[in-house]
Parts: sequence; C-alpha cells; structure tokens
Amino acid sequence: MYDLQKFTLRDMSECGLALRHLGDKANSMEEASNHIIQYLYENLVDQQSGENSCVLVRFFKTHSYGELTAELQEYARGLLGNHLPDDSLKCLLLLATAGELLEWNSRHKSEGHKAIPLANEEAIARIPMISQLIQQLGLNSGIVVRPDPNLLTDLEQRMYNVFYVPDALGSSYIPAQKSFVIPFNIKSVIGFGGLLPSGNTFVILMFLKVVVPRNVVELLRPLALNIKMAILRFEGAKIFRNDDQSVVNKKATTLKNKYDLFQRLNSQIATLTQLLDVSEQSTISQSDRLEQTNAYLKKTLDQLQKTQIQLVHTEKMSSLGQLVAGIAHEINNPVNFIYGNLVYLQQYTQTLLNLVQAYQEYYPNPAQEIQELIKKAELNFLIEDLIKIVNSMTVGTERISEIVKSLRSFSRLDEAEIKNIDIHEGIDSTLMILEHRMQATHEYPAIKVIKEYGQIPLIECYPSQLNQVFMNILANAIDALQNHHSSWFTSCKEDKNNSPLPIIRIRTEVIDDQWIVINIADNGSGIKEEVRSRLFDPFFTTKPVGKGTGIGLSISYQIVVEKHGGYINCISTPGQGAEFVIKIPVNIKNG
Ligand SMILES: Nc1ncnc2c1ncn2[C@@H]1O[C@H](COP(=O)(O)OP(=O)(O)O)[C@@H](O)[C@H]1O
Ligand SMILES: [Mg+2]
Repeated sequence: MYDLQKFTLRDMSECGLALRHLGDKANSMEEASNHIIQYLYENLVDQQSGENSCVLVRFFKTHSYGELTAELQEYARGLLGNHLPDDSLKCLLLLATAGELLEWNSRHKSEGHKAIPLANEEAIARIPMISQLIQQLGLNSGIVVRPDPNLLTDLEQRMYNVFYVPDALGSSYIPAQKSFVIPFNIKSVIGFGGLLPSGNTFVILMFLKVVVPRNVVELLRPLALNIKMAILRFEGAKIFRNDDQSVVNKKATTLKNKYDLFQRLNSQIATLTQLLDVSEQSTISQSDRLEQTNAYLKKTLDQLQKTQIQLVHTEKMSSLGQLVAGIAHEINNPVNFIYGNLVYLQQYTQTLLNLVQAYQEYYPNPAQEIQELIKKAELNFLIEDLIKIVNSMTVGTERISEIVKSLRSFSRLDEAEIKNIDIHEGIDSTLMILEHRMQATHEYPAIKVIKEYGQIPLIECYPSQLNQVFMNILANAIDALQNHHSSWFTSCKEDKNNSPLPIIRIRTEVIDDQWIVINIADNGSGIKEEVRSRLFDPFFTTKPVGKGTGIGLSISYQIVVEKHGGYINCISTPGQGAEFVIKIPVNIKNG
C-alpha cells in the first residue's frame, strides 16, 4: 500500500519493482496492462481514510487503425462519422481500466474512450487533456499521429515526463467537469507513459481523490519506465487478450524476424538504462532533501537545547536570586540593629567599668559580702574579657554586613537592566560567596586567590548576569583544583611545603578605550583538547551525575557573547591548569 500524499523513495522502488514484474505472468499486453491498472487501483490508498486514492485509472496506448480488432475498428469508424480511415491512422486505444463504478472496470463497457481516432493534429488539439498530456510527455502531436522512425530511438530514450494537474477542479485540461470531476470529487490528475519502439505511445492516467504534492510527482517518473518494461515483451506481438479478435495479432504472435527481436532487446536495454538514470536522479534529489531536512532538524535541536538551557537557567537564577536577596534583606535588619547598638554597648560598658574602677579607688575595703562577690566574679579577668567580647562582636557584625552586601551585590535583583558597574565589586562578591569552598579541609588544601586588578573603567553591563559568569568559572576552577590537588594532598602530606599550592589568579586589564579583559586562571587539572572543543556545548560535562550539569559554561557563553557582545575562550595545557579569557566591551554592544 502506498499513500501518494507521502510517497517515499522506498515506495518508488518497491512499487516500481512490483510493476516491472506484472508482465511476467501475462499473455498479452492487454492482460499485463490490466494487472498494472489493478495493482495501482488497489495499492494507492489514502492512509488516513483507508480509501482507495484513485477514482479511475486507465491504460491507453496509441494503435494503428488497421491493427485494431474488428469491434474497435467499427467503434472508431463511428466516431469518424463512418468515414473509412486509412489503416495507418493512429487511435488512442483504451487497453485497461479500473475504477469506482462497475462500468469502469472493463474496456468493453467504455462509452467514449474505447478507441479515439487521432485523425490529425487539429483533432488532438480539440481534446485538451490528450494534447496537454502529449506535450508533457515530451512529444508533439505530430509524432503521435505520424511517428517518424528516424526520431524514435532518440525520443524513446528521453520521454518519461509526468503529466500533472494538481487541482483538477476548474482545470481546462480536465474535461467532464460537471459529470465527472465535481461529482466524484477529483482532486489531482496524474499521467505518465512512454514511447514504444514501434512508435506507439502508452499512457497511464490516474484520476485521484487526493491532492498529490509536487515533490511526489518526480518519484512517479520511474514508474512509467517500469511499466514500459512490463509491457515491452508484447510489443509487436500479442496485444489483445483474445488473440483471434485481432487481425494483425495473428501474424504477430511469433516475432517476424531477428530484426524485431534485436529492436526489442535494444529498447529493453535503453529502458533499463533510463530507469537507472531516473532512479539515480530521484535518489540524489531525495537524499539532498533528506540532508537539508537533517540540517534543519539539527539546527532546530540546537536552538531547542539553547532555549531549554536558558529557561532552566533563568528559572534557577531568578529563584536563587530571590532567595539570596530575601535572606540578605532579612539578615540586614537585625544586623543593622545589633551593629548600630554596639557603639552604645561599648560606651555603656566603658562607663560601667569606669564606675567600678572609681568605687574600687574610693572604697578600697568594701564590705565582706562585696569582696566575696568580686572574687567569685573574677572581676579583673571579666573586665579584660568584656572589652574583647564587645570588640569581636563588632568585627563579627561588620563581617555579616559585608556578606549581606555581597549577597545583595551578587544577586543584584534590583538591577536587572544595564548599569555602569565596577566589575571588581562583582568578582569580589562572588569570591566572598565561594569563600567557604576555598578553605582548607582534611581533604583539600586551602585555595589561594591572587588578584591582579588593573585600572579599569566602569563597565556598561547586566551586572547580575556577569556575576553569574564569574560564579560559573570560579566554581569550575575550584572543582578542578580540588580534583587535582586532592590526590596531591593525600600523596604528599609529608612534603606539602614543596608542592605547588592550589591557586586561582584573577587579572583584569584595559585593552583599549573600548574593551577590557578578565583572566581567570587556575593551576588545576587542565582541560584535554577533546573536552576543550566541547566546553561551551549545552549539557556537556565531565563531572559525575549529581555534580555536573554542563550548563555553567554554555550559559556563560550566551551571557558574554550574545548578551554583551563580548568574547570568551579557554586556554589550557592539560595537567597544568586552565585559563578563561573574557573580553567585554566597555559599552554594551548587544542586548
Ligand atoms: N577550570 C577548569 N578546569 C578543568 N576543566 C574545566 C574547567 N572549567 C570547565 N571545565 C570542564 O568543562 C566542563 C563543562 O563545565 P560547565 O559547563 O560549567 O558544566 P559542569 O561544571 O556542570 O560540568 C566541565 O565538566 C569540565 O570538564
Ligand atoms: Mg560548572
């Protein structure tokens, strides 16, 4: 079963193969063409509705009047107004038919098409479909009426076009609009055929209930050649099923001479060669189309992945940002409260201590009970420690304030738009957030951060997004360092002082008045070339499941390149660390 609306290269080959062999078991061209027509009628199916796609399929062949059966001669004469034609007059002979109505299933029952005399070119021109068909097939009506043997070989080899009317309704080429096209809901009409060595033309006409797309038509060309292969063996021999009805067939049942055989073989070879050519052409154009589709699909997939990553990222970032900003806000108030009162605490404590001291001076021998209390409270130590405590409380709250400030500056929720920003502030706040990951543990040594900040101007950018880039790159550097140095740490515990310490070096620099560059380098495991080339691909990660997502660098790339019109790349010598170079325009180029 084939659906003409989705006819594929595979269908073309399968259907062609089947058609080519339909002549094998036939005894005459009529029988072969009946098999062919039946096959097409039954196997072309609209997959959606399950109905046959053809309303009517017909096999026509041009045939000399003198070679027609007596019955057909009489019929043709009738159409000519009983005028007796020349034996050589070409007629369009209906050899096989299949269709929805009972009477469409026998050529003998056809009223108007049994054998149409093609008296001359004008007569053909009066049958629009036939003349158009002849033209489409690459012939001119003169050739059909009077085949010129000298032209035939050449024509026979180049004639395999397809007659195609995509929209039959209202088409001037399709007759019987009221009695046929409209009531039977004919959508497309397709015809294909060829020229036989004798100079006769054969044509298969399909009236279809489905709209056949233009790109399918090309795939139908080889079918004509396959059909020609199926009927070629009967050429010049047995045309009609009932032998005795044909005057000429009797003498034609055996091949007249070797020349005929030679001609037929020649024609077979030529047809097969054409078939090969056409099939190859179809294969090439179909695989081109496939490649195009593949490229398009790949592009769409890339786009989809990018969008997905962006969605995930935006979603994550906005909730993380909100969370961070929320916490920062919540902490900020009580910390300010404490911090603001610490000054008074310090003052009051000092005042109280002064008071105690004054008491001690003026009353060096207090009552027994007070002396015991002083002793119990270890007053001298208490005085000393109280000052220290208040001081460390001040330092602690100052630190909390700083962290809160960093959190706010990192999330920069309030600053979604473009702003002029001190990049160093962004890097510092990111480092502050990551600080806990850089401290020494029993597994890893502490990571040393070396800042080499240059004199750079304020940068016009999306601050929270750039901070995200610093965060991604620094977090990767920490991963790489811990990965690299954990083995070092366990193996060289005794000799720590001689081994290189894990370092992250951050350098900023002005390139010119338009650009600045930020280098973030680590002396971790480094990146192999095959990893380096895929670094910025969405979802590419070398980290174990649960640890890596592979979106950090791809999102960083989007932020730097697409949002800021900058550049980001990575330089690395495996085993010796990696360096990320980010170039950012001073004034935003994009976004
Ligand atoms: N500084 C670095 N040193 C070594 N490899 C790195 C470094 N930065 C990134 N990579 C490699 O790039 C990959 C992709 O990084 P990223 O996009 O951030 O995803 P993830 O960190 O989730 O794996 C990492 O899995 C790692 O293999
Ligand atoms: Mg990462």
